Amino acid sequence: MSVAKGEVLKVEIEKLVSGGRGIARVDGLAVFVDRVVPGDEVRVKVVRKKKNYAEARIVDLIRPSAFRVKAPCSYSGTCGGCPWQFIAYEKQLSCKREHIMDALEHIGRIKGVQVHPPVASPKQFGYRNKMEFSFSDRRWRPPEELSAGNIREDFALGLHVPGTFDKVLDIDTCLLQPNLGNSILADVRSYVRKSGIPPYGLKSHKGFWRFLMLRHSFHYDTWLVNIVTSREERSWVQPLADTLYEKYQEVVSIVNNVNTRRAAIALGEYEILLAGEPFIKEKIGRFEFTISANSFFQTNTDCARRLYEIVRDYSGLTGREVVLDLYSGTGTIPIFLSSRAKKVIGIEISENAVRDAQKNCQKNQIENCLFICGDIKAGLKHLQDKPDVIVVDPPRAGMPPDVIKLIGGLSPSIIIYVSCNPATMARDLAMLKQNYHVLEIQPVDMFPHTPHIESVARLELTK
Ligand SMILES: C[S@@+](CC[C@H](N)C(=O)[O-])C[C@H]1O[C@@H](n2cnc3c(N)ncnc32)[C@H](O)[C@@H]1O
Repeated sequence: MSVAKGEVLKVEIEKLVSGGRGIARVDGLAVFVDRVVPGDEVRVKVVRKKKNYAEARIVDLIRPSAFRVKAPCSYSGTCGGCPWQFIAYEKQLSCKREHIMDALEHIGRIKGVQVHPPVASPKQFGYRNKMEFSFSDRRWRPPEELSAGNIREDFALGLHVPGTFDKVLDIDTCLLQPNLGNSILADVRSYVRKSGIPPYGLKSHKGFWRFLMLRHSFHYDTWLVNIVTSREERSWVQPLADTLYEKYQEVVSIVNNVNTRRAAIALGEYEILLAGEPFIKEKIGRFEFTISANSFFQTNTDCARRLYEIVRDYSGLTGREVVLDLYSGTGTIPIFLSSRAKKVIGIEISENAVRDAQKNCQKNQIENCLFICGDIKAGLKHLQDKPDVIVVDPPRAGMPPDVIKLIGGLSPSIIIYVSCNPATMARDLAMLKQNYHVLEIQPVDMFPHTPHIESVARLELTK
């Protein structure tokens, strides 16, 4: 049977592929469908037909899968924040494990690796310690809003809808953050709307308000508020900061990042302290960490502890080893490993994160960690010790091939690869597999209700 664009088909969804889409097969042809659950029987309309696959949109759900659940959030179905809310949590976990195994087999061509069932997140909602809401001068209106006449279309504060870069869904409650975050979000929206100062437009590149970033410390139950604007105009942001600081005793830090560039990122060229301290403190296990607005910190605090414990257990340290931690952020992994190693050297590009890492060591009375600030490649050239264990935790893009070669050249007996992207992890492990055995992988579900998964891979030198 040949499949053509515009055709309506009845299909059963086999599984979810990496990125979260469902796949069904029609006479061997892969048909990708958004917003489905394995086991769903659906009628779909083909919207794109290529030689080896087709893409289709749901027309109706004929028979729902046993893994379908009611999504608790009213924005589910529209918002890009957590597209898997309507899938039973246990099923999400098994799909994510399957994605890792598929990536190892098809991208890395690595066989026989033991991929353990993922560690579940203790919290399935309210688990995020950082949320980044965008301002926009173009509001994305979901179908149920289209008939309402009294809605301002030139203002939104919320999250992006998949596939739209300039329009934003105005959100008043996000279930991924602890509840107080929603009150702060409402207060900021109300202040900004009343101010008459326009939000920044991603097409027009005009306007002032760009992002609202909220960070929460679970241990201390305190908040950092980061207001990102397109220029410095203290008299416009200070009254908002004063209001929040006065109203919420939990808000202990308010900063203003100024981003004058066109790139849609919350990272400013510089930061102004508006109230309190320029950071919040968090505790993981027995260690305390300082986190500034722009430092990387794992977004699910409960799972971060499990992640670092796995790294510690996989490293097999006895106290005599030199450990190299690449992409060391605020020093969390070095600090977790410090009591079992002779020395831990971190390399990290962000000056702020390195400063935080040094402060974190001081605060935790740790003296055997040192940090090199710079790009990994340059940092590796300054290395004087030969590492016994190398831990890497790169961004989603994974590691450049020349960095992988440099790591291989140092021939540590153990490599631990921490990754938030199974595809780039599989690609990078493939480059190491000549000299290293990939022994096991422990996934940790940092991001419930999204297709994302964190993994820790343990590699051992073979010769
Ligand atoms: C996934 S985070 C890992 C942080 C840390 N391991 C943790 O768990 O908190 C990646 C880190 O790599 C840093 N980074 C990105 N590119 C880099 C590069 N080329 N050289 C050095 N560090 C880099 C980022 O600033 C970020 O702190």
